[in-house]
Amino acid sequence: MTWRVEHLAEGVTVYCGDARDIVPSLGQFEAIITDPPYGIGFAAQPTKWQRRAGQKAEAWDDLTVTGLADILKHGERQVCWSGNYYSLPPSRGWLAWVKPDAPPSMASLELAWTNQNRNARQITHSIGATNAERVGHPTQKPLAVICWTLEQAGNPATVLDPFMGSGTTGVACVRSGAAFCGIEIEPKYFDLACRRIADELRRPRLFSERPVAPVQEALL
Ligand SMILES: C[S@@+](CC[C@H](N)C(=O)[O-])C[C@H]1O[C@@H](n2cnc3c(N)ncnc32)[C@H](O)[C@@H]1O
Repeated sequence: MTWRVEHLAEGVTVYCGDARDIVPSLGQFEAIITDPPYGIGFAAQPTKWQRRAGQKAEAWDDLTVTGLADILKHGERQVCWSGNYYSLPPSRGWLAWVKPDAPPSMASLELAWTNQNRNARQITHSIGATNAERVGHPTQKPLAVICWTLEQAGNPATVLDPFMGSGTTGVACVRSGAAFCGIEIEPKYFDLACRRIADELRRPRLFSERPVAPVQEALL
């Protein structure tokens, strides 16, 4: 059980390895914001645009991960995109990403389970805009949706994403000023995430982009 670790900046650390091995050594975070494998074989059937971009069939999404509940315990606030594919406790605080321009072959919304006792919320964000952001991960989430997710989680100061894929949560954390720890098992996605997060760290900032106050409702 070995893993690789990169410290990309103060408070920004990423690991390449199995989250189930690494998370027990990491302690507690204010929030876990994550997007684990869906277990529906999505990556095994690349879409037409993915095949054109050189995407090959991959097996990592053929099964859901075991031990998710133990991983989520490391976050006080927990948000799990694709939580509808897992046996998680009943919750009223679901989040939804609505895709107004989704073609009939695609889901018109995606769901995130949260452990928060609050009203369910939704964001509408174009799938066309999402495609324009793609960096080569088959289930990359749009940055706007993950930035919104951080707000919905009360703008946490420390965030863990144990299934970071191409590093979208890391980019959103750098943008919001949160300390970030990410884990990805697949080396090619890990390298992609490192590049994306490092690019975001290099982006000039004229002022802190960290939101001033947490969303009151998220603290209920
Ligand atoms: C749904 S994708 C995350 C996509 C991400 N939200 C993004 O925007 O790019 C899930 C990721 O979890 C990774 N993964 C699967 N099993 C893992 C494990 N045991 N530990 C760490 N990462 C794992 C997969 O390689 C995949 O990149």
